[in-house]
Amino acid sequence: MAKKIAVLPGDGIGKEVTAGALQILQAVGERFGRQFEFSYGKIGGEAYDATGSPLPEETVSLCKESDAVLLGAVGGPKWDQLPVHLRPEQGLLKIRKELNLFANLRPTTFYKSLADSSPLRPEVIEDVDMLMVRELTGGLYFGKPSERLNRNGKEAAVDTLFYQREEMERVIETAFKLARKRKKKVTSVDKANVLESSRMWREVAEEIAKKFPDVELQHMLVDNAAMQLIKNPKQFDVIVTENMFGDILSDEASVLTGSLGMLPSASLSLTGPYLYEPIHGSAPDIQGKNIANPIAMILSAAMMLRLSFGLEDEAKAVENAVNHVLNAGYRTKDLVSSDAKIITTTEMVEKIKAALLDHELSLSI
Ligand code: IPM
Ligand code: MG
Repeated sequence: MAKKIAVLPGDGIGKEVTAGALQILQAVGERFGRQFEFSYGKIGGEAYDATGSPLPEETVSLCKESDAVLLGAVGGPKWDQLPVHLRPEQGLLKIRKELNLFANLRPTTFYKSLADSSPLRPEVIEDVDMLMVRELTGGLYFGKPSERLNRNGKEAAVDTLFYQREEMERVIETAFKLARKRKKKVTSVDKANVLESSRMWREVAEEIAKKFPDVELQHMLVDNAAMQLIKNPKQFDVIVTENMFGDILSDEASVLTGSLGMLPSASLSLTGPYLYEPIHGSAPDIQGKNIANPIAMILSAAMMLRLSFGLEDEAKAVENAVNHVLNAGYRTKDLVSSDAKIITTTEMVEKIKAALLDHELSLSI
């Protein structure tokens, strides 16, 4: 049976990198005899222009009827002046909520070929292999009230950090399950020396840990975690944290091994469909120039093959093809390197596709 994929390219370079990922999925289909059926939906600024909403109802239904969702990126200066509830980013937050995508997985992998693109010394980042698990549907992003206030004639504002116990349990449990298949260590990041929600988070982490005696649990305060990520990133396996801390730390983690343009993500729910998107944004400054790095999006498609469809060989083949092209010295412009061969977005896609279709190559690397 064909796998139904909802494709939401969004704005800016979202469209360019999505087109690239779809070509790679088509090549996977060709090579492994798989069928993927793509249905397009609108989200973000493009959706606002067409329908007046950053997440039209038909996009939500399309996603709910699909086996998986592939999303490019949203946003751009054109929509910056809109009232908050109509901004492109709201489309993204709403689809996460609508699909109940509570666990956002952001892996950081070391690529030998990209070691010199990192701002950190090679010996610090060598063999870094960590997975950030960010809570995605709670905390400050969604807590109410979130508004401007007038307190005794003085202007003020409030946002609310709210979590229910179950919301903590399910994401922390997800982190433990993932750690079990990796290096068996979970670092739970919080601010328990200040925040009540963090003290509860810590308590819940301790409870969940009892169900996973084979996995080590470590607690770390978020400010220290920000420092440790730069100082000694190799100590981490799985990091689990609440929404806002995860947003900040995952951008930090993304520069360790090269470029934001390299990092994929997967967002999981209890029931599916899952959503896959690159970590980077819509990059309006480079839109339409054919220079965006399509690799984060292509690796997001690989995560989809693995996590939504159980197609491990296919996912590996895509990852190997990406590695092969990087090892051969090809780079998009974001990946600075002394002797790089700089190529365009479409050329990068072509090269990865060629490597993927080369049987000998993609399984042997
Ligand atoms: C991310 C982004 C989003 C977030 C924005 C665009 C709302 O930064 O996916 O990390 O804060 O979650
Ligand atoms: Mg972010």
